[in-house]
Amino acid sequence: MQKNAIPMILDGDPGHDDAIAWVVAQASRLTDGICDIRAVTAVGGNVSLKKTTYNMLRVCTLIGLTDVPLAAGAAHPLMRELMSAPSVHGESGLDGPALPEPGVSLCGLSAVELMAKVLRESAEKVTIVSTGPLTNTAALLIAHPELKEKIERISLMGGGVAYGNWTPAAEFNILVDPEAADIVFKSGVPVVMSGLDVTEKALILKEDVERIKSFHTRVGDIVWQWLEFFYQFHRKIGYAGAPMHDPCAVMVLLHPELFTIREYYIEVETGGEYCRGATIADVRHITQNPPNVSAVMDLDREKFVDHLIRAVEVYR
Ligand code: BDR
Ligand code: CA
Repeated sequence: MQKNAIPMILDGDPGHDDAIAWVVAQASRLTDGICDIRAVTAVGGNVSLKKTTYNMLRVCTLIGLTDVPLAAGAAHPLMRELMSAPSVHGESGLDGPALPEPGVSLCGLSAVELMAKVLRESAEKVTIVSTGPLTNTAALLIAHPELKEKIERISLMGGGVAYGNWTPAAEFNILVDPEAADIVFKSGVPVVMSGLDVTEKALILKEDVERIKSFHTRVGDIVWQWLEFFYQFHRKIGYAGAPMHDPCAVMVLLHPELFTIREYYIEVETGGEYCRGATIADVRHITQNPPNVSAVMDLDREKFVDHLIRAVEVYR
C-alpha cells in the first residue's frame, strides 16, 4: 500500500454528483493510489435502493471499478419512509447519457456486512465517504460498535451551517434520514462535513463542461453529459452552475489545502416543525461542547474544478 494512501469505503445513492465523486476517487486509485477504495455500497436516497444499486453497478463498470466488492444497503431510512429526489436526478437517478450495462455483480453481503468485513480485515483505519443519506453508516455503527475504532473518519456530503436546500433549514441527505445523521454525529468518530456552505460554491460552469467535452473519451463523454444534465436543472432553479456536492467529500481528503475547514459542535434536529434535518452548528461556542465536526465552509473553486477535470482526463 502507498505511504499516504487513504483506505476508504464509498457509500452513496448515485446520483450524478455521487457518480462524479466516484470518478474522482477511482482516478486517484488508478494514478497516485491515494484513494485506496476497499468497497462500494449503495443506499436508497435520490431514488429507490433498486435504482441506486443498478446505478452503482453501471458506474463502477464504466470506470473500471470492478475489482472491489460491491453491496446494496438500506432501502429506506432507519425510522421513516424514503423521500427521494427524482426531480433532481431524473427517474433513473442518473438520467442523461446511456450507460453500459453492469459488468459486475453484488458480492452477496449486505452493505453493513461488507463495511464490517472491510473494517475488520483492514490493518489500517478506514475512511467512510458517504454521499447519500447516512442510513448504511448509522446501521453499521449500531450493529458493530466494536468497529468504531477502525473508522478513521466519516467524510460526508450533507447538511450545512447556514441553510438547507430541501427545506429552508435542511439539506437533502440529512433530511432523508435525520436519525441516522444524529447517530453519526454523536458517534465520536471524526466527521468531516462537506455541507451546502462549501458544495454550493463548488460550481461547474458552462466552460468547464466544454473542457471535458473536448476530451472525446468514453468516460469524458458520459461525465460531460451528466454535468450538462445537472447544470441545466440547477440553472432553471437559479444556480449559476452545477453544484458538485458529493465530489467535495472525496476532494477534501485528496486536497485539503483547497478548503477552509472549521471545527464546530454540531447537532442534528430530528424533530421540530420547521427544522427537521437541520445541522445546528454552535458557531458561537454557546454550549461549550467540544467540536465533533470538521465543517468544510469554503474552497478555491478554480483549483477544485481543475482537479476534477484532470481526474476525468485520467480515463482514456
Ligand atoms: C445531495 O442530495 C443529492 O441529491 C445529491 O446527490 C447530494 O448528495 C445534495 O443535497
Ligand atoms: Ca448523493
